[in-house]
Amino acid sequence: MIGPYQLLGHNKKYVMDNSLLTVSWEDGKVVMIDQTKLPKKLEYVKYTKYQDIAKAIKRLIIRGAPAIGVAAAFGLCLASFQSKAGSTAELLSDMEIAYTLLRGTRPTAVNLVWALDLVMKKAREGNSVNQIRKGILDYSLKIAQDDVSTNKKLGKYGAELINDGEVVLTHCNAGSLATVAYGTALGVIRAARKSGKEVRVIATETRPVMQGSRLTAFELKHDGIDVCLIPDTAVGYVMSQKMISRVIVGADRVLRTGHVFNKIGTYQVAVMANRHMIPFYVAAPMSTFDLESDIGDIVIEQRDAREILQVGNRVITPKGVDVLNPAFDITPPELIAGIITEEGILQPPFKKNFKYIKGR
Ligand code: MRU
Repeated sequence: MIGPYQLLGHNKKYVMDNSLLTVSWEDGKVVMIDQTKLPKKLEYVKYTKYQDIAKAIKRLIIRGAPAIGVAAAFGLCLASFQSKAGSTAELLSDMEIAYTLLRGTRPTAVNLVWALDLVMKKAREGNSVNQIRKGILDYSLKIAQDDVSTNKKLGKYGAELINDGEVVLTHCNAGSLATVAYGTALGVIRAARKSGKEVRVIATETRPVMQGSRLTAFELKHDGIDVCLIPDTAVGYVMSQKMISRVIVGADRVLRTGHVFNKIGTYQVAVMANRHMIPFYVAAPMSTFDLESDIGDIVIEQRDAREILQVGNRVITPKGVDVLNPAFDITPPELIAGIITEEGILQPPFKKNFKYIKGR
């Protein structure tokens, strides 16, 4: 388990600095909140097999770019313990199999492959089976811990943008439930409130998987942050009525051109914000940046048609209707006022300003 954390025995909740702890390592098991059960039940699942981590990522038991990266890293750790390898070569070969399975779970968020590649690189440095196991576990725990400190740093930078009394619109869930804890877009809200500012949130419901209604509303209420839900279709209306002052969303992948891949619907929120001259910000750690790929290289995940055809188990559409269900869209840089990172706020033109980011 990563610390400092607290297991509140009374209501069996893992929290980290007062925000929900989404994924952690505990005595050889990966513990995560089952997000498919929220908001009805706050339930934790524990896995000892990497195959179950892959299923959990695919089924959205865990979701959100940074959270799936950490879960996948822990998945490789499980794979190393599951392996019966007697040599480092055998262990690395077993881990390659796990890597391929985990990498294939979701295509769009870059944090998944970022974390998997880092752990595999670390594994190749080990000189014995046990050294590899220990090395990658320590390393994955560090990735998890760094996620929280990164979110806090990013949150502080973002909080400087926010004036007392603002109402911020967010889409999907880029909160503690999408990360190890604290969140990116919602981390900015947490940091602004910590600095004494009054901030209220308007959250879109985020069809069809309802990350806004089920997750953002749940975690903000859990933390006592004022939140009001709107249907996705009301974004234009609330903006035209001057009910919001800023948009902050997360990201699944940011390209060197400043194009941002995020939850489906983000693009139309950005267009609408532009129409109403409302600043549109993206909050994303450097692990979400992909400075190598071009737009055409990125696969947009297409999800099951049942997410559209049904409400719960009830079919609401005519038989045989065609469905298109992309899970992510692309917001172009000209609609983005800034990208809030742990190294500061990137201002446009992003392509030029990326070179000022440390280590790039
Ligand atoms: O399909 P999801 O729920 O994994 O999509 C999540 C998002 O699009 C988030 O906005 C993104 O991962 C940023 S999370 C800090």
